[in-house]
Amino acid sequence: MFKEDTLSKKTILITGGGSGLGLSMAKKFASLGANIAICGRTMWKLEEAVEEISKAGSGVKIKCYKADVRNYERISSMFDEIIADFGTIEGLVNNAAGNFLSASEDLSPGGFKAVVDIVLQGSFNCTHVFGNYLIDEGREGTVLNMVTTYAEGTGCAFVLPSACGKAGVLAMTRSLAFEWAEYGIRLNAIAPGPFPTEGAWSRLVPEKTLEESFKNKIPLKRYGEHEELANLAVFLMSDLAPYITGECVVIDGGESLQGGQFNFINELMPRDQLKEMFRSMKKGK
Ligand code: HXC
Repeated sequence: MFKEDTLSKKTILITGGGSGLGLSMAKKFASLGANIAICGRTMWKLEEAVEEISKAGSGVKIKCYKADVRNYERISSMFDEIIADFGTIEGLVNNAAGNFLSASEDLSPGGFKAVVDIVLQGSFNCTHVFGNYLIDEGREGTVLNMVTTYAEGTGCAFVLPSACGKAGVLAMTRSLAFEWAEYGIRLNAIAPGPFPTEGAWSRLVPEKTLEESFKNKIPLKRYGEHEELANLAVFLMSDLAPYITGECVVIDGGESLQGGQFNFINELMPRDQLKEMFRSMKKGK
């Protein structure tokens, strides 16, 4: 889909890049020539990820940094290290997230804070440090924020802290896309539907029955492939999308289109019977 040098000469930091979708994006970026920095809280996981990423991208530089996105001081010192290691940095993917299922009346303030701090404060911390670096250096750059389909519109039951945090990240994406356009900084978001990962599935899809109903409510009747999301991320991070900023691209097999008022009727009877019913209702049949 992309030429091998689509991301060459770019250094990109992916937060939470040691596993899940972050790792899949890192591998894809590396295979297209990007130098990769990943950060996370668990060093052994990051080191294993570096090995894996290096198999995907030959000749690119890959480094990992132990950092919790909630800690502004550490994020600031990590960016200093990245710039010392790579010379420069052009891209940031705010991918690190936290989430768990809970009835909202049972949430503790600490539980709410943990998720919102990772998702919203963490994305702010990284974006703020990165943005200031670009502005001070007079360089252009790109930020990609991983949000969710429930960040806009519906919100979401049983994942209240995540819904609040991701809505904030989407607001940040659009606010800064406008405000920092004059510095040549683009910010976009991706809203993925269900893409199976160990981190998300262990916390959000604990049972087989839940997994089945999850899949059945997706119009395309399947989960997303990591490669599909990684391709979209490449496009938005690359020089192929220089005029796209402040956009949120949904990639969910149509899952978020469920609200259409008449959508439910194809569950009532087979399509042939439905068509028959429509024909019988047609004037002058
Ligand atoms: C209720 C919980 C809880 C749970 C933790 N807490 N898990 N409350 N139900 N299952 C509460 C704790 O009791 C504590 O509250 C507070 O949260 C902080 O918990 P810690 O374990 O001390 O925090 P920490 O180690 O920082 O862990 C943060 C975390 C954890 C968010 C709670 O789950 C985590 O590290 N997650 C990272 C990975 C992740 O979540 N990946 C999935 C992302 S998927 P008190 O009151 O004692 O302080 C995603 C996409 C969504 O976001 C879309 C999918 C379709």
